[in-house]
Parts: sequence; C-alpha cells; structure tokens
Amino acid sequence: MVSIKSEREIELMREAGRILARVHEELEHALKPGMSTLDVDRLGEKIIRGYGCIPSFKNYNGYPASICVSVNDEVVHGIPNKHHYLKEGDIVSLDAGVIYKGYHSDAARTHGIGQISPEAQKLIDVTRQSFFEGIKFAKAGNHLNDISSAIQAYAEGFGYGVVRDLVGHGIGSHLHEDPEVPNFSQKRRGILLRPGMTLAIEPMINEGSWDVVWMDDDWTVVTRDGSLSAHYENTILITEGEPEILSLLK
Ligand code: MF3
Ligand code: CO
Repeated sequence: MVSIKSEREIELMREAGRILARVHEELEHALKPGMSTLDVDRLGEKIIRGYGCIPSFKNYNGYPASICVSVNDEVVHGIPNKHHYLKEGDIVSLDAGVIYKGYHSDAARTHGIGQISPEAQKLIDVTRQSFFEGIKFAKAGNHLNDISSAIQAYAEGFGYGVVRDLVGHGIGSHLHEDPEVPNFSQKRRGILLRPGMTLAIEPMINEGSWDVVWMDDDWTVVTRDGSLSAHYENTILITEGEPEILSLLK
C-alpha cells in the first residue's frame, strides 16, 4: 500500500531531509585521498548522530555500517573497510539514511577523489541529471512509469547501462515502503502519483552494461563488466505542483 503523508509527517520528513543534505555536504568536503572507506563511515555516523538522528542503514538487514561507500565499479552497498583507501582518480558513491523523530530520509551522491577522468566526471553528471530528468514527471496525475522511463531514456542516450536489479522505493516511517521505483521502463504504467506521496528516487548508472553481480560479502554490488558506476538519490515529495526535493538544500 502506498501511503499519503499527513502535513505533520511531511514536516518531519522535511527536517530529516535537510539534515541529510547537510550530512552529504559535510562528507563531500571531508573526502580526500588516503582516507579509508571506514573513516568515511565513522565520520558520517558522527555527523548524523550530532544532528540527533539515527543512521538508518546501521544493522538494517544486518548491514554493518551507517554509510554505504561504493568505489569505482562498486554500484551500491559497499561495506566500509579500514584497509580500503580512497585514491586520486577514484569515484566514490556515498549513500546515507537518517531517522529523525521516527521519519526517514535517504540520499546518495557520487564524488570524484581529486582529479578524475573526463569520462568518470561525465558518468557522475549524467547520473545526477537522470534523476532531474525523471522528477520532471514526478507530478500528481502522472504515473510512476513516467519517471522511470525518463530516467532510462536520458541515461541510455549516453550509451550507459541502467541497473535493473535494484530500484528506488517509497519512504516514510520505514526506509523501504511501497511502491518500488525502477529506473527503467515497465510494461505497466505503475501507480498514479498523488500529493503526499514520498519517494526515494535513485538512479544507479553504469558506464558499460547494466548487468551487476553480488560479492561474497552478500552486500557489495559490482558491475559485471568491471566498468565504473555512479549513484544519485534524493527523497522527494509529490505535491499539487512541482515535486519538493526534501534531501537537497535550496
Ligand atoms: N539507498 C539504499 C536503499 O534504499 C540504501 C540501503 S543500504 C542498507 O536501499 F544497508 F540499508 F540496506
Ligand atoms: Co534508497
């Protein structure tokens, strides 16, 4: 069932989103070569708790950290590791979730470490833009598949692969709520979008094929062909007019 949030719930999700946007900004500024992916997680958890929030990923289905740190060909759910150091030229996807007074916000960003290749930068930029192309259709009266199709069409226009095995989701008092939000077109139009729905829209885009594999840790998802992957996600609110991006600062 897809829930419609009350004005009170929306206000709490706005605050959760504002905090999460700041968490991402602070993490972005802290990233540098030589930092371990575990350092990123520790710092992220400290920032989240400093805002009085709970890191929603920690222990979620047994996930052992607060921030998913996915480097280069890692698509999502990379597990922070004290022996994995970030180096110049890497691209790193940071996915974080916070709970504020019982309400969730979920967002991801991909950053370059130091100087990165123009190809890597383009993948990051197109992945981010595919989110914005998708939410042009995130309006009451449209159907969910309008968003999914727009994301896919934009990313595939650059020859990139749109990951099929993982999708976005509804969000609210739970991290994952109905509906699923694919980043690729479906045969069905999907649910009718209505004001008060809150969605985590999260394109995962590969430089090569869309195909992915799970590592032996049962979490880390990597591209099957070893190509780079980028991730961009925000929690949004469907309104009577333009969607509100809750996890971005205006
Ligand atoms: N943004 C991801 C998702 O919505 C993050 C989940 S990581 C997990 O599924 F550890 F919490 F599973
Ligand atoms: Co998510």
